[in-house]
Amino acid sequence: MLNYSRNRAHSKPNRSFSLEAMDLADSRRKSNVTGKVLMAISLITLCIIILKRSPNFSSPSPFSHRQPGVTHVLVTGGAGYIGSHAALRLLKDSHRVTIVDNLSRGNLGAVKVLQQLFPDPAQLQFIYADLGDAKAVNKIFSENEFDAVMHFAAVAYVGESTMDPLRYYHNITSNTLMVLKAMAAHGVKTLIYSSTCATYGEPKKMPITEGTPQVPINPYGKAKKMAEDMIIDFSKNSDMAVMVLRYFNVIGSDPEGRLGEAPRPELREHGRISGACFDAALGIIPGLKVKGTDYKTADGTCVRDYIDVTDLVDAHVKALAHAKPKKVGIYNVGTGKGRSVKEFVEACKKATGVDIKVEYLDRRPGDYAEVYSDPSKILRELNWTAQYTNLQESLQTAWRWQKSHRNGYGTRMSLHS
Ligand SMILES: NC(=O)c1ccc[n+]([C@@H]2O[C@H](COP(=O)([O-])OP(=O)(O)OC[C@H]3O[C@@H](n4cnc5c(N)ncnc54)[C@H](O)[C@@H]3O)[C@@H](O)[C@H]2O)c1
Repeated sequence: MLNYSRNRAHSKPNRSFSLEAMDLADSRRKSNVTGKVLMAISLITLCIIILKRSPNFSSPSPFSHRQPGVTHVLVTGGAGYIGSHAALRLLKDSHRVTIVDNLSRGNLGAVKVLQQLFPDPAQLQFIYADLGDAKAVNKIFSENEFDAVMHFAAVAYVGESTMDPLRYYHNITSNTLMVLKAMAAHGVKTLIYSSTCATYGEPKKMPITEGTPQVPINPYGKAKKMAEDMIIDFSKNSDMAVMVLRYFNVIGSDPEGRLGEAPRPELREHGRISGACFDAALGIIPGLKVKGTDYKTADGTCVRDYIDVTDLVDAHVKALAHAKPKKVGIYNVGTGKGRSVKEFVEACKKATGVDIKVEYLDRRPGDYAEVYSDPSKILRELNWTAQYTNLQESLQTAWRWQKSHRNGYGTRMSLHS
């Protein structure tokens, strides 16, 4: 049998066996190939499904083309204090928003709050970029179709500007030039520019109107004035609609407590009076130092015009609605009412319920006695007027957020400044 078998192994049937084996091997190879082809097809299908789900593959990004009835606003500095509040309002008004920020001073946490409130990926996008980076700026404008730019991004501390002026000219003046050139190159039609009452310097006559001569006395005010001049000169031969808003001292936060002001701890010393009051109320600093009690004002302390951020943002929305091609609108954004530092401190004590320790010191060089706006032009032309004019209430709102966000927005990322 074995032999036979062996023999048979050399006989036809055996040959036929070997052919069968070949067929079997062949069919196995074939089925292997088929398996591999099927596997490759399924992998490719899977990749296509994954890619199709990614916003860049399936359809062009909603940010890359204009959509009738939808205004796409680029909010530079949208992770910062005022920019984040403006983005919130624009999103609430159903606008499409792109935030660009290098997070040098702003907070990713603020962007996350906005993303949680407005999860539709076609309504809000965040781009982490530095406006001093020409390549990045051009990429942003090439890949997105903006209807308008609200240019908030800036370093914004008067004291710091006197110590590091070049940083201010670079960050404010040169970066604004970069944004303006990109807007011109890509046909973006509207610019709302964040300027400041610091461009007026120390006018002799109060209140300050838009016609008050601009004679800034520190690099911050000068850099902003230069940026304004550039924008206005450019607009003379352009179709662009431009609104320049000169803010007075901004306070307050979102009345619904979603956003607040959270400057970096290391910037506290340059910070604004409301921040210092809250820090004193929280025990972060021992108390307040009021510099100068012999100014020619009712109680001897400096007088300023405090504008609530909710009102300020509303002024931007009105500016956007009224912006006209080939026209430049320049507006003071203030309440028109001056409040002394003493008044402010008293309001802050009441708002926080803390008997903040106050030390009265000599004047600080460079401070001016009185600054307050004449806001009648913006009322007349844009139908805007401040609504949140109760200092204590504005501070109370901001205090609620400060108390529940002792570490600001928590984690921070930083690229550079
Ligand atoms: N806060 C005020 O009282 C006040 C008053 C007058 C004018 N302003 C102007 O309002 C604007 C916003 O001020 P704010 O108080 O919200 O300041 P902020 O520091 O809270 O916000 C500024 C934002 O700009 C970002 N930024 C700075 N440089 C950038 C760059 N090179 N590239 C990208 N992002 C950059 C920061 O990271 C930050 O998020 C500024 O232009 C400021 O000059 C503010």
